[in-house]
Amino acid sequence: MAEQPLVLGIETSCDETGVGIVRGHTLLANTIASSMDEHARFGGVVPEVASRAHLEAMTPTVESALEQAGLKFSDIDAIAVTAGPGLAGALLVGVAAAKAYSAGLGVPLYGVNHLAAHVAVDQLEHGPLPKPCIAMLVSGGHSSLLLVPDVAADVISLGSTVDDAAGEAFDKVARVLGLPFPGGPHIDRAARDGSPDAIAFPRGKVDDGTLDFSFSGLKTAVARWVEAQPSIHVPDVAASFQEAVVDVLTRKALQACKKYDVHDLLVGGGVAANSRLRSLAQERCDAAGVRLRVPRPGLCTDNGAMVAALGSDLVAAGIAPSALDIPADSSLPITTVHV
Ligand code: KG4
Ligand code: ZN
Repeated sequence: MAEQPLVLGIETSCDETGVGIVRGHTLLANTIASSMDEHARFGGVVPEVASRAHLEAMTPTVESALEQAGLKFSDIDAIAVTAGPGLAGALLVGVAAAKAYSAGLGVPLYGVNHLAAHVAVDQLEHGPLPKPCIAMLVSGGHSSLLLVPDVAADVISLGSTVDDAAGEAFDKVARVLGLPFPGGPHIDRAARDGSPDAIAFPRGKVDDGTLDFSFSGLKTAVARWVEAQPSIHVPDVAASFQEAVVDVLTRKALQACKKYDVHDLLVGGGVAANSRLRSLAQERCDAAGVRLRVPRPGLCTDNGAMVAALGSDLVAAGIAPSALDIPADSSLPITTVHV
């Protein structure tokens, strides 16, 4: 069999400039420059600051990925890039850079969907995805349940958040508790010393018959509860809030598996790094006879390897490359796996 092509993937949809290099499903390099420190004092990602940081980080991040893999530009066979969804200005930097590398090196360009890339990345760790599988993507910008017959061709949305994303709820509650941004990892850590049963927070939409989520009521409930107390035990609030989120997420994910009679669940996106989500998902999947796949935390948060992984699947499936004039589409729908 001929050697599979080397694909370089570029991710700039939010605050991480990510560059990954894969051959087939083998990960050769994954380098990231984050502008998070520049956003932390604002309590959220500032789009213009992110765009500027991508511009400065792009060339050095590509060069360090090549160095990590021990490769030269001339070894690269294809370029993949996140074309959307994400922050418009941030996406634009990655798409422009990818076009330049594609044209300069004379190799095909593949514009890909950021969410599908979060699904495809798991193959770098756990091998080819079962067809179909259910994927739950939980990040700062998205909370979605997907039916994935084929990540390179066909992704179907089953439900999503009607208000805040799961990661957004973690970040906002962390702020209420006086924890730094981004709050997810801090809540995860604080919760280890608290009781998940200390406070009964609401589980929005949990048994409403849909596969949608809602986290804004929970966020408000935590804020009201904290306001009403003379003093609080942060670990108990963190653990009780976290339990409410992961209880709903895992229940809905298993409802989706049952409804579509699918026995493989993938959890991805930044919130999939959450230790309680990982353990409760495993417990409930075991009880339901569902196989669980969760990429390691470094592949769950935004990175370039996920983009390269999906690009590699597109090349392998013989899908035609993107035109050199593809736009960056900040609201690219999940059903559009590549542009
Ligand atoms: O996928 P990601 O890196 O970027 C987006 O596309 O949004 O996800 C970032 C989100 C943030 O909201 C962050 O607080 C959350 O993932 N996060 C976590 C954990 N690590 C990151 N949330 C809960 N527990 C964690 N351990
Ligand atoms: Zn993401």
